Amino acid sequence: MGKVYVFDHPLIQHKLTYIRNKETGTKEFRELTNEIAGLMAFEITRELPLKEVDVETPVAMAKCHMIAGKKLGIIPILRAGLGMVDGILELIPAAKVGHVGLYRDPDTLKPVEYYVKLPKDIEERELIVVDPMLATGGSAIEAINVMKKRGAKNIKLMCLVAAPEGVEEMQKAHPEVDIYLAAMDEKLNEKGYIVPGLGDAGDRLFGTK
Ligand code: PRP
Ligand code: URA
Repeated sequence: MGKVYVFDHPLIQHKLTYIRNKETGTKEFRELTNEIAGLMAFEITRELPLKEVDVETPVAMAKCHMIAGKKLGIIPILRAGLGMVDGILELIPAAKVGHVGLYRDPDTLKPVEYYVKLPKDIEERELIVVDPMLATGGSAIEAINVMKKRGAKNIKLMCLVAAPEGVEEMQKAHPEVDIYLAAMDEKLNEKGYIVPGLGDAGDRLFGTK
């Protein structure tokens, strides 16, 4: 069963409080989403293996450490996942970025696929799927289905806010995928929105309605 990690770092929780607030405008929402994504990426990459390297400093030779050849891939689920990419790339600039385009049909709440473009060597990469919201779980489950069909093996899911219903569905559908969150909320409402959540993440990021 995939593990669920909720990051309780004070900076993450502080910034999340601002983006939940309905008074927070598009500019701040976008900046804070990227900042939270970067902080979460910092925590997620804590276990990356290191290799020892010799470096000549201006004073002497030093035994130093570098990340040991792990190839990373960031896979935002369009559109709202895009709002997390820059914050992660600031820390991991060499990561490749793939895109899975899905929108949730407002009546059926089922994901509808409209675009997929993934790194060629996806099977060799450690992949982080990013989307601010895990509500019913339908979009993230389908995105990972699409990725697995193209060879993806090593997958983590990173979301800002999740509903327990979506986490449960994800654990059933993809039990090997660990889930990283900034918050686990109470429930879904009758329209499939996370309660208390932060509203429609895509609309708030891009200023659409
Ligand atoms: C939102 C969100 C997730 C999905 C979550 O996207 O960004 O992708 O809904 O809901 P689910 O877990 O019930 O599938 P939306 O469909 O609104 O598209 P957008 O990102 O283009 O705004
Ligand atoms: N998608 C969102 O953007 N917000 C929700 O609360 C649920 C799905």
